[in-house]
Amino acid sequence: MVMTAPDTTAASAAAQVENPLREGMRLARTPQSCTMVIFGASGDLTRRKLLPALYNLALEQWLPAGFSVVGFSRRPDSDDEFRENMKESVGEFSRRRPIQPAVWDSFAQGITYIPAEFQEADYYDRLREHLDRIDRERGTQGNRVFYLATPPSFYPDIIRQLGRAGLNHGGMDGKGWARVIIEKPFGHDLQSAKDLNREVLQVFREDQVYRIDHYLGKETVQNILIFRFANGIFEPVWNRAYVDHVQITVAESVGVEGRASYYEEAGALRDMVQSHMLQLLNLTCMEPPIAFDAEAVRDEKVKVLRALRPTASEEAAKQAVRGQYGRGWVAGKEVAGYREEQGIAPDSSTETYVALKLFVDNWRWEGVPFYLRTGKSLPKRTTEIAVQFKSAPYMLFHPSGGEVAPNVLTMHIQPDEGISLRFDSKAPGASLQIRPVHMDFLYGTAFHDQSPDAYERLLLDCMLGDSTLFTRRDEVEAEWTFIQGVLDGWAAQGRPSFPNYDAGSWGPAAADELLARDGRAWRKP
Ligand code: BG6
Repeated sequence: MVMTAPDTTAASAAAQVENPLREGMRLARTPQSCTMVIFGASGDLTRRKLLPALYNLALEQWLPAGFSVVGFSRRPDSDDEFRENMKESVGEFSRRRPIQPAVWDSFAQGITYIPAEFQEADYYDRLREHLDRIDRERGTQGNRVFYLATPPSFYPDIIRQLGRAGLNHGGMDGKGWARVIIEKPFGHDLQSAKDLNREVLQVFREDQVYRIDHYLGKETVQNILIFRFANGIFEPVWNRAYVDHVQITVAESVGVEGRASYYEEAGALRDMVQSHMLQLLNLTCMEPPIAFDAEAVRDEKVKVLRALRPTASEEAAKQAVRGQYGRGWVAGKEVAGYREEQGIAPDSSTETYVALKLFVDNWRWEGVPFYLRTGKSLPKRTTEIAVQFKSAPYMLFHPSGGEVAPNVLTMHIQPDEGISLRFDSKAPGASLQIRPVHMDFLYGTAFHDQSPDAYERLLLDCMLGDSTLFTRRDEVEAEWTFIQGVLDGWAAQGRPSFPNYDAGSWGPAAADELLARDGRAWRKP
C-alpha cells in the first residue's frame, strides 16, 4: 500500500524555505492550538514573567496558530486596557527588547480579559462561554491551559469552580484537553499540601496537573542531567567513594521586594528550600532514570526525597540554621533591616536565611554531607552547586609554596552560567609550587546565544503535554515531609533571636559553625 502525506510534506517544505533552523526538533515541538487562561492576570507574576515569556515564544515562532490568552482577575480592566498594560510589561521585562510591533500586534489579537471574582460561579460560566467562542473564532480546538497565578489561598476555590463549570475537561464536546498549572508554594506545610492535592485531584487527573517550580525550566538546571547522564566520565566518580561533600548555594542580594504579606507567611525555608533547593539537590543526587520521560525522571527524584534523613526535632537547631537580616550595606547601598521593611511586623520571626546540613541515606550517598544555604540581602546574587571531591589518597608532593586544594566541580546555575573544575597544577618555575587552576565552560562564550527564560520552556512544555519538568503529587508531598521535620524542630525551639546577620554579610555566625564543626567552610562564591 502506498501512503502519502501531502500536507505534512508541504508544511515542512514551507518551513524549510522560511527558516531552516525550525526543522527537526523545533517543528516536532509545536503544540496544538490552545488558550491560556491566567488567574491573577493583574498580578506581578503575569507582568514580569508570564506575558514576557509568551511574547518571546511568539517572537520565536514556538506558539501555535490561533494561540489565545484570557486574563481573569479582579481589576476592572477592559480588553484594551489589559492589552495595553501587558504591552508595557513586555516592553519592560522581555529579554528581547524593544518590542517588535508586528509580532506584538498579531500576538495581542488573541488577548482578552474578564474582570472577575475568583469565588463566584457566574464568572466561570462566562469564562466557559468565552472559551467556546474563542474555539470557534480562533481555532483553538477546545484546548485550555489554566494558570493559577493568584495568592495560594484562592487555589481551592478556583479549582472547585473550574470543576463545577465543567472546565476540567477540554471544550469542543470533549475533543479538546484541559491542563492546570499551579504556582508555588504548593501548600504551607505537609498537611496543607496533602489537602490541596486532594482538592485538585477531585477535579483534575494527575496527568492534567502541572505543579510549577521555575528552577526546573532554567537551562543550567536542566543541564545538570545532561552533564551527568550524557557524559561517561563523571558518573563513575559521582558517589560516596569520591565525593567529600556538596555545597548548594542560592544567594540573593535583594530583600523581600514589596512582597511582605507573602513572605511573612512563607520565609526562606518554604520559599526557596522546599521547592527550588530540593530540586537542585534532587538532580544532583538522583540515579539515572530508565528513560528521559516524565514518569521515569520523577520516579528517581522521589526516591532521593524519600531517602533524605529526617531532621529530628532536637537536631534541628544543629542541622538547620535560620537567620534574619538586620540593617547593613549591599552593593554600596545602605539597606533597611527585614523588620523595618514595609508591611513586616516589627517583631517578625520570619527567617530570611537558612543553612542546612542533610544526608541522603542510600548506597550512593551514605555519609556524604550536603550543605544547603539560601538567603536574602546577601552580598551578591549567585546560585551554584559545588561538588568537592576527596583529596588524593597520598600526597607525594611537598611544595615549597602554594596550596594543594581538593578538586571541586562547580555548576554555576546563575549568573555567569557554566561549569568549572578546579584542579591543582604546577606553577611554572624551578621550584615546586602548586596552585589551584580552573577549567571553565561558559554558556555565553560556548553558545553565543541568549538562554530562554525558564517560564518560556515550562509554558511550552505544558502546552505540549510534557510534565517532565513539573512536580508530581508524591514528589511535592515528599518535599514537604522533609521540610515539616525542620518546621517542627524550629517550632520546638521557640522564638529565634533575630536579627542575627547584617544585610550584605554571608549570613549568621551559626551557619559558619555548622560547617566548622565538620572541619569545613562555606565556599566564597
Ligand atoms: C521565587 C521566590 O520562587 O524565586 C523569590 O518566591 C525568589 O523569593 C525567586 O526571589 C528567585 O528566582 P530566580 O529565578 O531569580 O533565582
